[in-house]
Amino acid sequence: MRTEFAASLERAAAGEELTREDIINLLAAAQGAEEVALYRLADSVRARVAGDEVHLRGVIEFSNYCRRHCCYCGLRADNAKLQRYRLMPEDIVAAARRGAELGYGTIVLQSGEDPWYTGPMLAEIIREIKKLGVAVTLCVGERTRDEYAMWREAGADRYLLKHETANADLYARLHPGMSWQERLRCLQWLRELGYQVGSGNIIGLPGQTLADLADDLILLRQLDVEMAGLGPFIPHPATPLGGEPAGSLDLTYRVVATARLVIPYAHLPATTAVGTLSPTGRQLALQRGANVIMPNLTPTRYRADYQIYPNKICVNEGPEDCRHCLEGMVRALGRRLGRGPGHTLKPLPVQ
Ligand code: 5AD
Ligand code: FES
Repeated sequence: MRTEFAASLERAAAGEELTREDIINLLAAAQGAEEVALYRLADSVRARVAGDEVHLRGVIEFSNYCRRHCCYCGLRADNAKLQRYRLMPEDIVAAARRGAELGYGTIVLQSGEDPWYTGPMLAEIIREIKKLGVAVTLCVGERTRDEYAMWREAGADRYLLKHETANADLYARLHPGMSWQERLRCLQWLRELGYQVGSGNIIGLPGQTLADLADDLILLRQLDVEMAGLGPFIPHPATPLGGEPAGSLDLTYRVVATARLVIPYAHLPATTAVGTLSPTGRQLALQRGANVIMPNLTPTRYRADYQIYPNKICVNEGPEDCRHCLEGMVRALGRRLGRGPGHTLKPLPVQ
């Protein structure tokens, strides 16, 4: 092991606050002994703060309409090849009921940025789903503060809004018409409104460096997030980045493991993108710091059209298939399914 890596890992093991340099050292873990040591520490911190429970969050991808132009995303408004769909409110609630019956403690409502669903419409959907006794996570992008407030009032517990990259220049290049400052302002509003906040970033974007990824983790620490989604870049042929190489799976594992050390109390999903790049991707992520999986609850006939990136897994499966597949996966790892809503892991403040 190189001395700088070993020193940073030791600081992590001692629970010291990691510097940007430390984080870069850990992200640069070499194949072999360094990676093994990083993963072992991440897994032990995961066991200590999150236990052996793996929480399942059922995701309903209720609309693939999107008004944005993110250069990596297959849902971008400019992608004319995509067959667009919207679930009606009663169908969203029915899918959520299915999720509650399958035992999911959290329902995630995810879509492109689709203003067709007005603030009051989504509030009504949230109220109906909350009657099922589940936690509700929203993932519908940038909206007004009033809408965020209305949804919180309606019972939404959590909000996922990935910052995508902490490098403001890269952010500007990848998100025409959007601004990094506005993104952060939205995250600030969500925090003020009492949501459990999730953010996260893409790994292996063209032009992204290890220092950028360290800045991602530092930003997540500053935001004090309750959850962080960290997934590899997967090129989509119908986007401007279609010809770029995919993000590295190994780098993704190193980011997830390092995230467990930088933001130990955050829920970290083994992402669908990791599962798309490798059939054992999610299992390995769960053994390297992750503690959450997000099974698909979208009605099967729409799944193929929620093509954020190509070859997404579970496109031909139904909600029950994913439920059973994941129970088997979790058991095979010697872990167990989470019970209850799986709220924040952060320790309660001392009174
Ligand atoms: N590769 C990997 N992740 C992507 N996302 C969108 N497009 C891609 C892609 N091509 C991620 C973004 C977004 C989430 C819904 O999916 O992080 O926030
Ligand atoms: Fe969908 Fe395995 S998670 S089939």
